[in-house]
Amino acid sequence: MSTAATAPRPCSVVVFASGRGSNFAALVAAQQRGELPITLRALLSDKRTAPALLLAETAGIDAVSLAPRDFADRAAFDHAIFARAASYAPDLIVLAGYMRMIDAAVIAPWIGKVINIHPSLLPKYPGLHTHARALEARDTLHGASVHFVTAELDGGPVIAQAQLRVQPGDTPETLAARLLPLEHRLLTATVDLIARGRVVLGNDGVELDGRVLRAPLIPIPS
Ligand code: GRF
Repeated sequence: MSTAATAPRPCSVVVFASGRGSNFAALVAAQQRGELPITLRALLSDKRTAPALLLAETAGIDAVSLAPRDFADRAAFDHAIFARAASYAPDLIVLAGYMRMIDAAVIAPWIGKVINIHPSLLPKYPGLHTHARALEARDTLHGASVHFVTAELDGGPVIAQAQLRVQPGDTPETLAARLLPLEHRLLTATVDLIARGRVVLGNDGVELDGRVLRAPLIPIPS
């Protein structure tokens, strides 16, 4: 009888993206460098022209787009895209620049298996125009969050954040440009923690190594 230990199965991941796909590309790059114990099964998009689809094709990852206008309503589209995701039997779905809210009945059975990256220090500034809103509020600290997805827009339990100091003269564009590389590292670090089974959503909130988090993790130095 063999005594060799069976290697754990890599975490199977499906990514949803609506646009550019730089966060998806960061996951692909980390996985290709052997730094992320995941298998990227597919990139799903609600936009036929999303550059993220081309990034997936180039990386040899299934690239699938579904058009919301081909479905009767939002719930029907959400059912269809999650059914397509389910066909890959993912352990984790990552929303990386996926610009749609998800129907409450569709997301319900997936809660704890879907994460999103959002460019603000949640609970501040859910929704759009986060950089402009942080500047209008004269915030000195801005950043990005990765959270478990619920039916509430950008409202699920926060797992981890990356922080950024606002500089005099910053504009929404300069803030976005400085934040993006931090987002890539934040998302990669958070997916790594989930893939290794260290972070889960428990009954009392986000858990790290079996302990409920009292505050979001800060996995990368600011
Ligand atoms: C990122 O800023 C992310 O936080 C937000 O949408 C943007 C997507 O960028 N949810 P990309 O498509 O990953 O380049």
